[in-house]
Amino acid sequence: MASFNSSALLFLLFRATIFTVVVGDTFQVDFHHRFSDKVRQWAESQGLPALWHPKKAPKGSVEYFKELIRHDRALFSRHDRLLAATDVYNFAASNETINFPSLGFLHYASVTVGTPNQTFLVALTTGSDLFWLPCNCKMCAPLTSPSYGDLEFSTYSTNASSTSKTISCGSSQCNLLNNQGGNCTGMSSNCSYAINYSIVNTSSSGFLVEDVLYLGKGSTGTDIIQTPIVFGCGEFQTGAFLGTVAPNGLMGLGIANVSVPTMLARKGLITDSFSMCFSIDGSGRLNFGDEGSSDQSETPLTIDKNLPHYNISIEGMVIGNITTKTSFTALVNAGAAFTILANQVYKELTNIFTAQVTETQISDPTLPFEYCYQLSSGQTEVSFPEVNFTTKGGSQFPVLNPIVILISEKNQRPVGYCLAVQPSNSKNIIGNNFLTGLRVVFNREKKVLGWKPFDCYSTESSTIHPIDKNASAPSPASKAPPPIHPETTQLPRTKSSAPDLSHFLSIEL
Ligand SMILES: *[C@@H]1O[C@H](CO)[C@@H](O)[C@H](O)[C@H]1NC(C)=O
Ligand SMILES: *[C@@H]1O[C@H](CO)[C@@H](O)[C@H](O)[C@H]1NC(C)=O
Ligand SMILES: *[C@@H]1O[C@H](CO)[C@@H](O)[C@H](O)[C@H]1NC(C)=O
Ligand SMILES: *[C@@H]1O[C@H](CO)[C@@H](O)[C@H](O)[C@H]1NC(C)=O
Ligand SMILES: *[C@@H]1O[C@H](CO)[C@@H](O)[C@H](O)[C@H]1NC(C)=O
Ligand SMILES: *[C@@H]1O[C@H](CO)[C@@H](O)[C@H](O)[C@H]1NC(C)=O
Ligand SMILES: *[C@@H]1O[C@H](CO)[C@@H](O)[C@H](O)[C@H]1NC(C)=O
Ligand SMILES: *[C@@H]1O[C@H](CO)[C@@H](O)[C@H](O)[C@H]1NC(C)=O
Ligand SMILES: *[C@@H]1O[C@H](CO)[C@@H](O)[C@H](O)[C@H]1NC(C)=O
Ligand SMILES: *[C@@H]1O[C@H](CO)[C@@H](O)[C@H](O)[C@H]1NC(C)=O
Ligand SMILES: *[C@@H]1O[C@H](CO)[C@@H](O)[C@H](O)[C@H]1NC(C)=O
Ligand SMILES: *[C@@H]1O[C@H](CO)[C@@H](O)[C@H](O)[C@H]1NC(C)=O
Repeated sequence: MASFNSSALLFLLFRATIFTVVVGDTFQVDFHHRFSDKVRQWAESQGLPALWHPKKAPKGSVEYFKELIRHDRALFSRHDRLLAATDVYNFAASNETINFPSLGFLHYASVTVGTPNQTFLVALTTGSDLFWLPCNCKMCAPLTSPSYGDLEFSTYSTNASSTSKTISCGSSQCNLLNNQGGNCTGMSSNCSYAINYSIVNTSSSGFLVEDVLYLGKGSTGTDIIQTPIVFGCGEFQTGAFLGTVAPNGLMGLGIANVSVPTMLARKGLITDSFSMCFSIDGSGRLNFGDEGSSDQSETPLTIDKNLPHYNISIEGMVIGNITTKTSFTALVNAGAAFTILANQVYKELTNIFTAQVTETQISDPTLPFEYCYQLSSGQTEVSFPEVNFTTKGGSQFPVLNPIVILISEKNQRPVGYCLAVQPSNSKNIIGNNFLTGLRVVFNREKKVLGWKPFDCYSTESSTIHPIDKNASAPSPASKAPPPIHPETTQLPRTKSSAPDLSHFLSIEL
């Protein structure tokens, strides 16, 4: 049994305050948090402009930032992450990424481009390839919204950056698009793109531009370099992109030629590999050029030449004391909020999991997930079956954070938990939540996926397993980050202000 002791539970609760039980047996998403000066400092230090109206009611969701900056921003030790001779790069504004619940539970990074430079908070995805920004806007997300917290976004204008170049259809750079939605009508016209994403009616279209991207080099991050890259000037967005998903742009980290990691590797700037770390506290890392460590687990990537994706082969599951031999191919997509499994795999996982859960299952169609379990009053610890995927080659891929906690709005106490996985007719997507607690290495050069339990902060020698596997006694000296007491979280007074969770469950970019 994997378990969360009381302090880990509280901490998870902080992560999962998102699910709130309201009177009348419905659930809603709660993103309303208090703001602090530290949050503002954090935002300002990244060049993200913020609106501050101290007299207005607090709004938004950047509570994560508050927790983030309480951490010592320790370095990864060099031997932990640097096997390659070349350098590791981060985005210049910050080497940290953040899981933003109010923006679809995706990881976001601050990306700086242009002259003078401008910083954007872009969603990260490994499920698609193009990097686009809201640009020369004809139809873009609003620049302020309760979902953004007190952040005020800006848009990119081709006429506002002296280093911006519009790419024409005749340019070789237009070929980067290949079949990625290119739509050229003549050699001299702009190299246009139009991409539909998996979320219903959600698309971005515009044309390609070239401009400089700012990267921080090496472990200090102080050595800033500028490198020209090609990205989409997103003039028209539709669907979720006009709401609360990637409102300030999307960075596709996929395998195709048009993706930023591919461009950086082609330039010889980095080894053709990058890593993403997904901390249990919602923060993360993105390191271009990182090949991980020699002791990480690995499995080969199954890459289709025509439609390249980070797919891995799974040959079985370990769920508590049961081992299965089900085999399937799954896409590792940081741009999916929650893991999605094809019906047969979904049924097998949920049935075996449920059979080993001691709490009573809650049958309530308004719950965000199908498999949820009731906690008894006063219960401070959750024990649930350990879940591992057995990957091709035999390495175990541990799912360290398969659950979300349900919080009662009445007394703000945990009242239940759910196995956070969604069924699908045919897709298998290992989403953000199943990557939590790991540093995941997308080694495109060697065509392997690597992973290792990692807290995203500590050095190799003191890597903390993010989940306390000790099913009994809560340990007071838990090494987990300090718990956030629920009382510090402000709940919304009105139901209407909270986004509908159902929009987020099937996010996949
Ligand atoms: C962006 O421009 C500002 C103002 O000129 C400067 O202080 C900052 O260092 C620049 N950021 C980067 C990443 O170069
Ligand atoms: C730049 O273009 C935008 C529209 O895309 C326009 O609103 C703005 O006035 C232009 N700025 C300059 C300096 O030309
Ligand atoms: C191409 O893009 C530029 C902005 O970079 C714009 O001024 C121009 O009108 C566009 N041309 C066409 C044919 O859309
Ligand atoms: C392709 O370009 C043409 C001409 O600019 C435009 O009318 C059409 O809507 C574009 N198609 C897509 C899918 O963007
Ligand atoms: C994207 O979706 C729109 C509307 O459903 C459709 O008209 C268009 O053909 C699609 N484009 C691509 C490239 O699939
Ligand atoms: C998608 O767009 C179509 C056509 O505009 C519309 O009929 C449909 O309701 C939309 N679906 C959603 C989920 O918004
Ligand atoms: C991340 O950024 C912080 C603050 O700028 C810096 O102290 C730290 O060294 C950086 N860590 C890495 C791994 O680059
Ligand atoms: C990607 O670029 C490489 C080098 O330019 C080229 O050989 C390859 O065919 C391109 N890939 C696709 C799918 O077009
Ligand atoms: C697995 O554990 C459950 C209790 O969680 C127990 O009832 C069952 O007998 C065990 N099955 C096997 C095969 O050990
Ligand atoms: C699950 O995977 C972890 C990490 O690889 C491993 O330590 C553990 O033994 C595995 N559990 C089972 C039951 O195989
Ligand atoms: C990769 O996984 C996705 C999601 O399940 C699937 O649609 C696609 O066909 C897979 N590709 C390969 C080459 O297996
Ligand atoms: C696990 O729990 C047992 C029983 O309460 C205790 O003796 C042991 O020290 C705990 N181990 C850890 C690592 O906390």
